[in-house]
Amino acid sequence: MSDHFRSAFSLANKAPHALSSSKSINIDTIVTILETILLFENLLFLYTENIKFELTPWVLSYIGGRNMEKKLNHLLADLVVEYHKLQSFHWYLKGYHFFDDHAKLEEYYDAIAEAVDTVAEDMLMLGFKPESTMKGFMALSTIEEAKNKEVTSEEAYEIILKDFKQLLDEVKAVKALAEKDDVYVTSNLMDDYIEMFYKANWMVGQEIKRPHFPGQDNK
Ligand SMILES: [Fe+2]
Repeated sequence: MSDHFRSAFSLANKAPHALSSSKSINIDTIVTILETILLFENLLFLYTENIKFELTPWVLSYIGGRNMEKKLNHLLADLVVEYHKLQSFHWYLKGYHFFDDHAKLEEYYDAIAEAVDTVAEDMLMLGFKPESTMKGFMALSTIEEAKNKEVTSEEAYEIILKDFKQLLDEVKAVKALAEKDDVYVTSNLMDDYIEMFYKANWMVGQEIKRPHFPGQDNK
Protein backbone atom coordinates (compact mmCIF):
# COMPACT_ATOMS: atom_id res chain seq x y z
CA MET A 1 0.00 0.00 0.00
CA SER A 2 1.42 3.39 -0.92
CA ASP A 3 2.15 5.94 1.78
CA HIS A 4 -0.49 8.20 0.32
CA PHE A 5 -3.06 5.44 0.43
CA ARG A 6 -2.05 4.38 3.92
CA SER A 7 -2.33 7.92 5.24
CA ALA A 8 -5.65 8.32 3.47
CA PHE A 9 -6.96 5.14 5.08
CA SER A 10 -5.76 6.34 8.43
CA LEU A 11 -7.44 9.66 7.90
CA ALA A 12 -10.58 7.95 6.63
CA ASN A 13 -10.82 6.23 10.00
CA LYS A 14 -10.19 9.27 12.10
CA ALA A 15 -11.08 12.59 10.59
CA PRO A 16 -14.52 11.80 9.11
CA HIS A 17 -15.82 10.30 12.34
CA ALA A 18 -14.51 13.19 14.32
CA LEU A 19 -16.10 15.56 11.83
CA SER A 20 -19.29 13.54 11.46
CA SER A 21 -20.15 14.40 15.03
CA SER A 22 -20.55 17.97 13.82
CA LYS A 23 -24.08 18.74 12.73
CA SER A 24 -23.01 21.08 9.96
CA ILE A 25 -20.72 18.80 7.88
CA ASN A 26 -20.74 15.16 6.85
CA ILE A 27 -18.38 12.79 4.99
CA ASP A 28 -20.02 13.31 1.59
CA THR A 29 -19.60 17.06 2.00
CA ILE A 30 -15.90 16.60 2.77
CA VAL A 31 -15.46 14.48 -0.37
CA THR A 32 -17.32 17.05 -2.48
CA ILE A 33 -15.13 19.86 -1.13
CA LEU A 34 -11.96 17.83 -1.85
CA GLU A 35 -13.15 16.97 -5.36
CA THR A 36 -13.77 20.67 -5.98
CA ILE A 37 -10.29 21.58 -4.69
CA LEU A 38 -8.86 18.89 -6.97
CA LEU A 39 -10.74 20.26 -9.96
CA PHE A 40 -9.37 23.77 -9.37
CA GLU A 41 -5.90 22.38 -8.78
CA ASN A 42 -6.02 20.49 -12.08
CA LEU A 43 -7.35 23.52 -13.93
CA LEU A 44 -4.55 25.62 -12.47
CA PHE A 45 -2.05 22.98 -13.54
CA LEU A 46 -3.35 23.20 -17.11
CA TYR A 47 -2.52 26.91 -17.16
CA THR A 48 0.77 26.80 -15.27
CA GLU A 49 1.95 23.42 -16.68
CA ASN A 50 5.29 23.18 -14.92
CA ILE A 51 4.11 23.73 -11.35
CA LYS A 52 3.91 20.47 -9.42
CA PHE A 53 1.22 20.25 -6.75
CA GLU A 54 1.65 17.93 -3.79
CA LEU A 55 -2.01 17.99 -2.86
CA THR A 56 -3.30 15.91 -5.77
CA PRO A 57 -2.07 12.44 -4.67
CA TRP A 58 -3.27 13.00 -1.12
CA VAL A 59 -6.72 14.14 -2.21
CA LEU A 60 -7.05 11.24 -4.67
CA SER A 61 -5.99 8.77 -1.96
CA TYR A 62 -8.40 10.24 0.54
CA ILE A 63 -11.32 10.07 -1.90
CA GLY A 64 -10.29 6.50 -2.87
CA GLY A 65 -10.29 5.49 0.80
CA ARG A 66 -13.71 7.01 1.40
CA ASN A 67 -15.18 5.25 -1.65
CA MET A 68 -13.72 1.92 -0.56
CA GLU A 69 -15.12 2.25 2.97
CA LYS A 70 -18.53 3.18 1.60
CA LYS A 71 -18.61 0.23 -0.83
CA LEU A 72 -17.45 -2.24 1.83
CA ASN A 73 -20.06 -1.03 4.33
CA HIS A 74 -22.76 -1.37 1.68
CA LEU A 75 -21.59 -4.91 0.92
CA LEU A 76 -21.46 -5.71 4.64
CA ALA A 77 -25.03 -4.46 5.16
CA ASP A 78 -26.33 -6.50 2.21
CA LEU A 79 -24.58 -9.63 3.47
CA VAL A 80 -26.15 -9.19 6.91
CA VAL A 81 -29.65 -8.76 5.45
CA GLU A 82 -29.12 -11.75 3.14
CA TYR A 83 -28.00 -13.84 6.11
CA HIS A 84 -31.25 -13.14 7.97
CA LYS A 85 -33.27 -13.66 4.81
CA LEU A 86 -31.76 -17.10 4.20
CA GLN A 87 -32.43 -18.02 7.82
CA SER A 88 -36.03 -16.86 7.46
CA PHE A 89 -36.46 -19.09 4.37
CA HIS A 90 -34.81 -21.95 6.28
CA TRP A 91 -37.43 -21.58 9.02
CA TYR A 92 -40.50 -20.83 6.91
CA LEU A 93 -39.84 -23.35 4.12
CA LYS A 94 -42.69 -25.67 3.16
CA GLY A 95 -43.25 -28.34 0.54
CA TYR A 96 -41.92 -31.50 -1.01
CA HIS A 97 -38.23 -30.60 -0.79
CA PHE A 98 -38.18 -29.40 2.79
CA PHE A 99 -35.54 -31.84 4.04
CA ASP A 100 -33.04 -31.10 1.22
CA ASP A 101 -33.61 -27.38 0.98
CA HIS A 102 -33.84 -26.70 4.72
CA ALA A 103 -30.25 -28.02 4.95
CA LYS A 104 -29.06 -26.22 1.79
CA LEU A 105 -30.34 -22.87 3.08
CA GLU A 106 -28.46 -23.38 6.33
CA GLU A 107 -25.30 -24.08 4.32
CA TYR A 108 -25.74 -20.77 2.48
CA TYR A 109 -26.41 -18.65 5.55
CA ASP A 110 -23.43 -20.18 7.34
CA ALA A 111 -21.20 -19.18 4.38
CA ILE A 112 -22.66 -15.66 4.38
CA ALA A 113 -22.16 -15.34 8.16
CA GLU A 114 -18.48 -16.14 7.71
CA ALA A 115 -18.23 -13.56 4.93
CA VAL A 116 -19.81 -10.90 7.19
CA ASP A 117 -17.14 -11.45 9.83
CA THR A 118 -14.29 -11.56 7.32
CA VAL A 119 -15.35 -8.38 5.48
CA ALA A 120 -15.79 -6.46 8.76
CA GLU A 121 -12.36 -7.55 10.01
CA ASP A 122 -10.77 -6.67 6.67
CA MET A 123 -12.28 -3.19 7.02
CA LEU A 124 -10.79 -2.84 10.51
CA MET A 125 -7.37 -3.90 9.21
CA LEU A 126 -7.64 -1.13 6.59
CA GLY A 127 -8.42 1.43 9.28
CA PHE A 128 -12.10 1.67 8.33
CA LYS A 129 -15.12 1.61 10.61
CA PRO A 130 -17.50 -1.26 9.74
CA GLU A 131 -21.18 -0.77 10.48
CA SER A 132 -22.35 -3.04 13.31
CA THR A 133 -25.89 -1.97 14.23
CA MET A 134 -29.11 -3.36 12.77
CA LYS A 135 -30.39 0.19 12.31
CA GLY A 136 -27.24 1.07 10.34
CA PHE A 137 -27.39 -2.10 8.24
CA MET A 138 -31.02 -1.44 7.32
CA ALA A 139 -30.20 2.12 6.33
CA LEU A 140 -27.35 0.98 4.05
CA SER A 141 -28.72 -2.25 2.57
CA THR A 142 -30.43 -2.43 -0.82
CA ILE A 143 -31.57 -6.05 -0.36
CA GLU A 144 -35.22 -6.49 0.57
CA GLU A 145 -35.86 -8.32 3.83
CA ALA A 146 -37.82 -11.59 4.04
CA LYS A 147 -41.38 -11.54 5.31
CA ASN A 148 -42.58 -13.66 8.22
CA LYS A 149 -44.49 -16.09 6.03
CA GLU A 150 -44.12 -19.56 4.51
CA VAL A 151 -42.26 -19.97 1.22
CA THR A 152 -41.90 -22.87 -1.19
CA SER A 153 -38.44 -23.93 -2.34
CA GLU A 154 -39.11 -22.45 -5.76
CA GLU A 155 -40.18 -19.07 -4.36
CA ALA A 156 -37.15 -18.98 -2.06
CA TYR A 157 -34.65 -19.89 -4.79
CA GLU A 158 -36.06 -17.34 -7.26
CA ILE A 159 -35.45 -14.60 -4.67
CA ILE A 160 -32.05 -15.96 -3.62
CA LEU A 161 -30.86 -16.05 -7.25
CA LYS A 162 -31.76 -12.37 -7.70
CA ASP A 163 -30.00 -11.42 -4.44
CA PHE A 164 -26.90 -13.48 -5.19
CA LYS A 165 -26.59 -11.82 -8.62
CA GLN A 166 -26.69 -8.43 -6.88
CA LEU A 167 -24.09 -9.55 -4.34
CA LEU A 168 -21.87 -10.84 -7.15
CA ASP A 169 -22.01 -7.40 -8.82
CA GLU A 170 -21.13 -5.75 -5.51
CA VAL A 171 -18.09 -7.93 -4.78
CA LYS A 172 -16.89 -7.39 -8.37
CA ALA A 173 -17.16 -3.61 -7.85
CA VAL A 174 -15.15 -3.82 -4.59
CA LYS A 175 -12.58 -5.99 -6.37
CA ALA A 176 -12.21 -3.41 -9.17
CA LEU A 177 -11.69 -0.57 -6.70
CA ALA A 178 -9.25 -2.60 -4.59
CA GLU A 179 -7.21 -3.42 -7.72
CA LYS A 180 -7.16 0.23 -8.77
CA ASP A 181 -5.85 1.30 -5.35
CA ASP A 182 -3.44 -1.65 -4.82
CA VAL A 183 -5.30 -3.00 -1.79
CA TYR A 184 -4.17 -6.58 -2.37
CA VAL A 185 -5.71 -8.39 0.61
CA THR A 186 -9.18 -6.99 -0.10
CA SER A 187 -8.76 -7.77 -3.78
CA ASN A 188 -7.88 -11.40 -3.00
CA LEU A 189 -10.73 -11.66 -0.53
CA MET A 190 -13.20 -10.52 -3.18
CA ASP A 191 -11.90 -13.28 -5.48
CA ASP A 192 -13.20 -15.81 -2.93
CA TYR A 193 -16.65 -14.21 -2.93
CA ILE A 194 -16.75 -13.86 -6.71
CA GLU A 195 -16.13 -17.60 -6.92
CA MET A 196 -18.66 -18.33 -4.18
CA PHE A 197 -21.48 -16.32 -5.77
CA TYR A 198 -20.69 -17.49 -9.33
CA LYS A 199 -20.98 -21.10 -8.21
CA ALA A 200 -24.06 -20.48 -6.06
CA ASN A 201 -25.78 -18.66 -8.95
CA TRP A 202 -25.14 -21.57 -11.29
CA MET A 203 -26.33 -24.14 -8.74
CA VAL A 204 -29.45 -22.23 -7.69
CA GLY A 205 -30.22 -21.58 -11.36
CA GLN A 206 -30.06 -25.31 -12.07
CA GLU A 207 -32.18 -26.08 -9.02
CA ILE A 208 -34.95 -23.76 -10.19
CA LYS A 209 -35.11 -25.67 -13.49
CA ARG A 210 -36.01 -28.99 -11.88
CA PRO A 211 -39.62 -30.02 -11.18
CA HIS A 212 -40.50 -29.02 -7.62
CA PHE A 213 -43.85 -30.74 -7.41
CA PRO A 214 -45.16 -34.05 -8.72
CA GLY A 215 -46.26 -33.52 -12.31
CA GLN A 216 -44.58 -30.11 -12.68
CA ASP A 217 -42.51 -29.82 -15.89
CA ASN A 218 -38.97 -28.57 -16.12
CA LYS A 219 -38.76 -24.89 -17.15
FE1 LIG B 1 -31.94 -24.72 11.74
